[in-house]
Amino acid sequence: MPLADVRIRAVDPAAQDDVKIIAERMLSTLVEVLGEEAGGSLYTLEGTTQRVMWHLESEEVVAQVFVAETAQGEIAGHTIVRVDDDGEGREIGLFATTYVVPECRGAGVASSLLDAGEAWMLEQGQSLAATYTDRLNKKLQNLYLGRGYRMSAMPNDFVKMAKELT
Ligand SMILES: CC(C)(COP(=O)(O)OP(=O)(O)OC[C@H]1O[C@@H](n2cnc3c(N)ncnc32)[C@H](O)[C@@H]1OP(=O)(O)O)[C@@H](O)C(=O)NCCC(=O)NCCS
Repeated sequence: MPLADVRIRAVDPAAQDDVKIIAERMLSTLVEVLGEEAGGSLYTLEGTTQRVMWHLESEEVVAQVFVAETAQGEIAGHTIVRVDDDGEGREIGLFATTYVVPECRGAGVASSLLDAGEAWMLEQGQSLAATYTDRLNKKLQNLYLGRGYRMSAMPNDFVKMAKELT
């Protein structure tokens, strides 16, 4: 799938079909990253749907949900970004989750989503971008390392990827 065929757009909170697809894929992400046993029963579809809606609608959070849409109108991937803190008192732009369907991988879809996410973070006045993932998730780590993010160890088998945005 050529990258030119994908366009990145923000999700409309009223678009319940989009919200459902993203929620389902958040569950798929957990299974893929943590395995069926650890990731398959962490959250329910209802819980992840509420989580997507919280990012879209809650006044408690400054956030955005982006999807990559193919020329056929299908969602190839998504990312959720929000303003968070780094645990040490500094505001950051956080990639809360990113997922691309297996058949669309390796074509730069995630890179396009991260471009949109980083641009959004800068618009929010954030100069530090970060994400957290499992220490074994090499695909995601390589993606961020290739974009100049630095990796550091976290508790509980997680790693943090972080970059100063310019
Ligand atoms: C991690 C993930 C989001 C990457 O998605 P993707 O769309 O395949 O990512 P990209 O195509 O942008 O980049 C992947 C690789 O393809 C390469 N690539 C990018 N554009 C390319 C192109 N046009 N042609 C060939 N290769 C390309 C990238 O350089 C990158 O190489 P790397 O693996 O050496 O870093 C995807 O594998 C995924 O959804 N994984 C499961 C969910 C997950 O782990 N989410 C994070 C949980 S914390």
